[in-house]
Amino acid sequence: MAANKSLLILPGDGIGPEVMVQVRRVVDWFDQRREVTFEVKEGLVGGAAYDAHGTPITDETMEDAMAADAVLFGSVGGPQYDDAPRDLRPEMGLLRLRKDLDLFANLRPALTFDALLDASSLKPEVVEGLDLMIVRESTGGVYFGTPRGIETLEDGQRRGFDTQTYTESEIRRVAGVAFDLARQRRGKVTSVEKANVMESGVLWRQVVSELHEESYSDVDLGHMYADNCAMQLVREPTQFDVIVSDNLFGDILSDCAAMLTGSLGMLPSATLGAPDESGRRRALYEPVHGSAPDIAGKDMANPLACLLSFAMLLRYSFDLEEDASLVENAVQAVLKSGVRTSDIMAPGAARVSTTVMGDSIVRELDKQAA
Ligand code: IPM
Ligand code: MG
Repeated sequence: MAANKSLLILPGDGIGPEVMVQVRRVVDWFDQRREVTFEVKEGLVGGAAYDAHGTPITDETMEDAMAADAVLFGSVGGPQYDDAPRDLRPEMGLLRLRKDLDLFANLRPALTFDALLDASSLKPEVVEGLDLMIVRESTGGVYFGTPRGIETLEDGQRRGFDTQTYTESEIRRVAGVAFDLARQRRGKVTSVEKANVMESGVLWRQVVSELHEESYSDVDLGHMYADNCAMQLVREPTQFDVIVSDNLFGDILSDCAAMLTGSLGMLPSATLGAPDESGRRRALYEPVHGSAPDIAGKDMANPLACLLSFAMLLRYSFDLEEDASLVENAVQAVLKSGVRTSDIMAPGAARVSTTVMGDSIVRELDKQAA
């Protein structure tokens, strides 16, 4: 039978490739054992692409990404690229994918796994039952705004500058994603900016409120300044359902939210574009964690965030809810059985390698599907 879904897999740098090897086993498991079939292409991104081709992503790989039903991404970056010119840095591969595929809505869930409550640096009772979703705008704001640069002033000193900009339509479309998600969840959106000091924040708040009034008055909307939101996330994170914010605040708040769960190694993300006429939307899935060069190549990284990103892919790109749940349940069951990578190690648990974590997941999938 011809494969019915096309995937582009971009393992990237650092722990990306070794984590992706385990995820690939699960992709193949679904390909063989479930109704869905995949046509998988792999490509280079980040430092790996730079080393091979002198650019963090080639035009050919961009074309593959455009053509694929979904992109599964590992991680990029490493200290050896710190001195590369900005345009050629590994991160630019990821930013170009987001920008050129117009993937404006970055969904970053933070939810606690009961088996890992003790891994959080917060008290278990503070994070118990946590299930929030950060919707981070990901093609605009200070990441892409111009003018930007470092110039030399008349007095000889240098001045660095960036531009934070948001248009109404950029704000509306990401807020729409947040409201739609809230309707499927607990019906609450917190919109985050710093309207107290930023003009773009004033506009953000106005546009979100207008959209709310026009089309989403059934959703409970609140506004919060970004600094307060950071504080509230560690004080009482369960007050949130969906948080929507700009590119930079969303970047920061999602790292903070990730740590609430005990490990950055557990959190997946999805970055979505707008649906086209046929309802198909471009999408990229990636773990929230980075390339972790300090542990790369040691077979000790946690593959679960990338694996859970594949679960999001099944759900958001292909509507395969049952298959997505299979992955998520396998993760829960394996954690419950006391199998842990180093980052989520707990007293009495068994510390395993990346590969053995992959083995455990595949075995659990076999068991569930039996
Ligand atoms: C993220 C990362 C990226 C970002 C980097 C690698 C450019 O921190 O995905 O959160 O800042 O968006
Ligand atoms: Mg980040």
